[in-house]
Amino acid sequence: MPLPKAELHLHIEGTLEPELAFALAARNAVELPFENTEALRRAYDFEDLQSFLDLYYSLMAVLRTEDDFADLADAYLTRAAAQGVRHAEIFFDPQAHISRGVSLGTVVDGLARALDASEQRHGISTRLIMCFLRDESAESAMETLEAAKPYLHRITAVGLDSAEAGNPPSKFREVYEAAAALGLRKVAHAGEEGPASYVREALDVLGVERVDHGLRCLEDAELVARLARERIPLTLCPLSNVRLRVIDTLEDHPLDRMMDAGLMCTVNSDDPAYFGGYVGDTFHAVREALSLDEERLRELARNSFLASFLEDDEERRAR
Ligand code: ADE
Ligand code: ZN
Repeated sequence: MPLPKAELHLHIEGTLEPELAFALAARNAVELPFENTEALRRAYDFEDLQSFLDLYYSLMAVLRTEDDFADLADAYLTRAAAQGVRHAEIFFDPQAHISRGVSLGTVVDGLARALDASEQRHGISTRLIMCFLRDESAESAMETLEAAKPYLHRITAVGLDSAEAGNPPSKFREVYEAAAALGLRKVAHAGEEGPASYVREALDVLGVERVDHGLRCLEDAELVARLARERIPLTLCPLSNVRLRVIDTLEDHPLDRMMDAGLMCTVNSDDPAYFGGYVGDTFHAVREALSLDEERLRELARNSFLASFLEDDEERRAR
């Protein structure tokens, strides 16, 4: 029996497996610039975050209809359930679809169809987190928030993702204020490729409740002490960090040192179709690479529920 856990850092578009990409390409008559699934998999050799994002956005071309989004989410939930996931807080990137002529309604209604059936079908409760692309303008983020108003009952929180360097959290101060005024909760990617100061900005300027990645907080001892003191959850993604060359090898990952420093760490898969594993695979890989004992693994699993947006009673039931 895999350890029951919540997944808090998961881009639904990053769960698009090559087989499903080709199936959807055929269904929608989209031509992919790869001969077959093996050729596509061979392209999963990334230099950095941007080289991954280029492929990630280009493969989204196969996602066109509500059915496509429902099938994508259901495929993820099926895999996640097999790896012990009981609760998933799922990111999606509306601007990457709207810019291709796919409406926000198509995306949200398709995802919602799979998510609404998830407790019954997979035993997984879910939340949706709408991310703004930080390499797009603040105005575009605000337009996206405006477009999301008819769907707010489906959306729990806003997030911030895509190319981090040169796109600090402070660029999105106003849209985060507007999101909070609409009752949305707040998270943001910070300190993946960007500096520790971006983690501070995410906390102080955007007022996030959790930091996605947050790895580079380690460059600022005072910030580490604060994150530990305030019990700010970090949604770490160790396999992603290796594949995107944020760190050299899994054995070098500072997860155990971060836990020793009192940081509230969680372990997540980020974009599992691209980075070599779903969250259960990730738990297994860090256990082996860092020689984590059972108590550490249980702490990571417990943190994943404590750091979630589940209410207390829901959290107990999910565990
Ligand atoms: N979008 C999908 N995966 C991402 C990551 N690891 N960092 C930033 N944006 C992303
Ligand atoms: Zn991410």
